[in-house]
Amino acid sequence: MKSKSLVSIDQCSREDILRILENARKFEENPNRKILEGKVAATLFFEPSTRTRLSFETAINRLGGRVIGFQDASTTSSSKGETLKDTILMVSNYADLIIMRHHLEGAARYASEITDVPIVNAGDGANQHPSQALLDMYSILQTQGTLENLTITLVGDLKYGRTVHSLIVGMSHFRPTFHFVAPEELKIPEEYKNFCDGLCIPYTEHKDFTEEIINQSDILYMTRVQRERFTDLEEYEKVKNVYILRKKMLENSRDNLRILHPLPRVNEIAYDVDDSPKAYYIQQAHNGLFAREAIICEVLGLNHLI
Ligand code: CP
Repeated sequence: MKSKSLVSIDQCSREDILRILENARKFEENPNRKILEGKVAATLFFEPSTRTRLSFETAINRLGGRVIGFQDASTTSSSKGETLKDTILMVSNYADLIIMRHHLEGAARYASEITDVPIVNAGDGANQHPSQALLDMYSILQTQGTLENLTITLVGDLKYGRTVHSLIVGMSHFRPTFHFVAPEELKIPEEYKNFCDGLCIPYTEHKDFTEEIINQSDILYMTRVQRERFTDLEEYEKVKNVYILRKKMLENSRDNLRILHPLPRVNEIAYDVDDSPKAYYIQQAHNGLFAREAIICEVLGLNHLI
């Protein structure tokens, strides 16, 4: 990787991605290795999380390291007005690695510029979620046997969805075709369409979520409409139930289709889908452990110990 921090998936070359996924595969074979003995990692979560924080903390524990940190910034001195800069400088005194989620876009990059301690971006506002992209790509590789030439349909909040943004950039190395399904209010930003255009990556845009689109897909990536990203809650109310995937919509889908979702879900995947062999979102979250073990080793320069 170009930097020892992982703040954005665009730092990762195709070779970087394939190396991290191969290391994730090794961690799936054996997640318990004492690679981080004597090291301390800090998890700083200024925004709520279940999977990202717990899978990073599990990864650190399974690798023999120790964890400090917080899951509620209101219990820290940031509630007294301490700046992000000072918080990062303080934590850098204590930890060998900082894993940070923050509501401000660019917060992880900023943190990486003021400390020599590696920073892993665990989500910065609506911008990026690179470790999610890597676990998503690991899940795609595990279910499809390849990352190449796949048709990926991204559904829901494509405007504020940081997991969508990171996945588009990560998959761009592997000749994908994208279908973007979103209401007008949440459509994919021009920046990402320009990115695809620049790399001659084919894509289509849709407002209707139809079986015809599902039936053309290898990966169906559902996302939640994120209430916390709306300043106008009336706008949220208009779009919150816009798409709901139901089991009967999968009847004529490809055998290899797998349904992914970064989670949490609200109601965009009906519970009857959970019984389908095409539902992969619970295993996907499990894969987060292996991908994050590989990411931690990558940023700390410990790949030789895997
Ligand atoms: N996918 C994801 O980021 O989930 P959490 O918000 O629970 O960490």
